[in-house]
Amino acid sequence: MSAPAPALPADLETALRRLRLAAVRKLAPELLVVAKTQRWSPEDFLRTLVEAEITARDESNARGRLKAAAFPVAKTLDEFDVSASSVPKATLDYLSSLEWIAAKENVCLVGPAGTGKSHLLVALGHAAVDAGRRVRYFTAPELVDTLYRGLADNSVGKVIDQLLRADLVIVDEIGFAPLDDTGAQLLFRLVAAAYERVPLGIASHWPFDQWGRFLPEQTTAVSLLDRLLHHSVVVLTDGESFRMREARQRGGGRTTRKP
Ligand SMILES: Nc1ncnc2c1ncn2[C@@H]1O[C@H](COP(=O)(O)OP(=O)(O)O)[C@@H](O)[C@H]1O
Ligand SMILES: [Mg+2]
Repeated sequence: MSAPAPALPADLETALRRLRLAAVRKLAPELLVVAKTQRWSPEDFLRTLVEAEITARDESNARGRLKAAAFPVAKTLDEFDVSASSVPKATLDYLSSLEWIAAKENVCLVGPAGTGKSHLLVALGHAAVDAGRRVRYFTAPELVDTLYRGLADNSVGKVIDQLLRADLVIVDEIGFAPLDDTGAQLLFRLVAAAYERVPLGIASHWPFDQWGRFLPEQTTAVSLLDRLLHHSVVVLTDGESFRMREARQRGGGRTTRKP
């Protein structure tokens, strides 16, 4: 084994620390040895250091964005079996391209429980994070709770502005729990503020004509849907629940167990 590379001179070490060039600081001692023994050109030496710093920062930013997104589970588009879903391949390809984010289109997933709505939302959000986007995931009750807290000190507008700094806001499970008048108004305020500004990814098990069931005022449902659907990709997820299917395949259902 070769001797450990000599440490950087203290002034250099301090300067790199001050400039927060952590990857350079870590890599430089060893790279100096390699570059000297292998007679690297100064350009190659500099390039290797700079590229290492960029890679480290990109990774760190991606980790930060992933954490900030607050996904409840880890799901990817690769894990989504399009042949087992009612979502057409062409639709999935378009969604996977993330072009709708740049175009500020919303994605609205509607379908019964267990048909992959949350999977798709999280997977698309994850792909967006990987592509350098800032994403924020909420269930509808989480979102409404967050906005409710702003009511106390009159800062709902600020909270919404803050949320809409993301490049994509996901609101899952809309209609799972009923909303009171204030909750519905708050949801409406977010949708209205995001309109043509920040794309939303939403999922609900209620078809749109049933949204009056959990939005207490009919007018709120109409004006909310109006904004939500104006620039929107609507995807119907249909069919048997994936959860039920898996339970049955494990032999948990009432169909006969395979030997
Ligand atoms: N087409 C699919 N390919 C792979 N897994 C799927 C698919 N659809 C659903 N699942 C899985 O089934 C489970 C339920 O899906 P989920 O997205 O939570 O349903 P929903 O949000 O529509 O109720 C999850 O574990 C999910 O990963
Ligand atoms: Mg779900």
